Amino acid sequence: MIRIGEPATTIDTPLEHLTACHRRVEDRLATLTRAADHWRDAPEAALEAIRKSILFLDSNGVLHTMDEEVSLFPRLRPRLTVEEAAHLDRLEQQHHEVESVFSELKDVVAEIAASPRQAIPLETRYQDLVIQLCGLYRPHIQFEDEVLMPLARGILDQGELENISQEMRIRRQRTERDPSILGGRHSPPGSSKTVEYPGAKGVLQKEDRLLGMDELARRVLKMFIEMGSESLDLHTLFEAGGNDPESRKRVLDVVMGLIDSGHLESRGSDFYLLTSKGRSAAGCAVGVV
Ligand SMILES: [Fe+2]
Ligand SMILES: [Fe+2]
Repeated sequence: MIRIGEPATTIDTPLEHLTACHRRVEDRLATLTRAADHWRDAPEAALEAIRKSILFLDSNGVLHTMDEEVSLFPRLRPRLTVEEAAHLDRLEQQHHEVESVFSELKDVVAEIAASPRQAIPLETRYQDLVIQLCGLYRPHIQFEDEVLMPLARGILDQGELENISQEMRIRRQRTERDPSILGGRHSPPGSSKTVEYPGAKGVLQKEDRLLGMDELARRVLKMFIEMGSESLDLHTLFEAGGNDPESRKRVLDVVMGLIDSGHLESRGSDFYLLTSKGRSAAGCAVGVV
């Protein structure tokens, strides 16, 4: 969790960024767990909450796994003991297991989205899959936080960390141009029904962009247009949230989300650049809000 008084985590500090992303994954798992309690009283809201959580896991979650498997693990592996290297093998295996359960979960949600009356008959299956997903993800995240990250901090030097940052940045830019880099996980193989998720696909309808973004995120993006600036520092962006400590925390969370989704890019020293995707969404927000 990002806390006031601690530096904001960006891709410039890749290990901290990965750890902060773990907190956001845990938030989405909690949302998926709670959502089934609301099938009966607020089915549309429950489905929307699930849809947003799945979108996050399907885009930022996939990028996170790629950051680990492509940029982090290979730099660590040659310098690990046999026992430590076995940890990486297990983590990679767990990534596959998470992916498999998540794929099934998306199929169930797609069935519900296609026919919301299916929600209650499918409730048990949905809950079982969410329990399985949490049971895989939570200990995986805990191990990475408590064992992998300290190990990496002890091994990687500043130059290597900067290279990982650069790879993570490029990976996000490439994914923005070509979402298929995410490995086709938006429409898992064998899935007979699909749900359209906005976000990482990069080719979004105006309505989807706005529905997929909360009010504070829109306000943050609007500030770039209103101030006529391509880049703003964090202190200016805090104004979007009201500037009290709790609002600052929310703005930090939103800015991180906008970086993850490719709407903003970190330029160091707490400055953030509005990307072309961000500019498009910001213009949209100005026109509507
Ligand atoms: Fe992982
Ligand atoms: Fe991780």
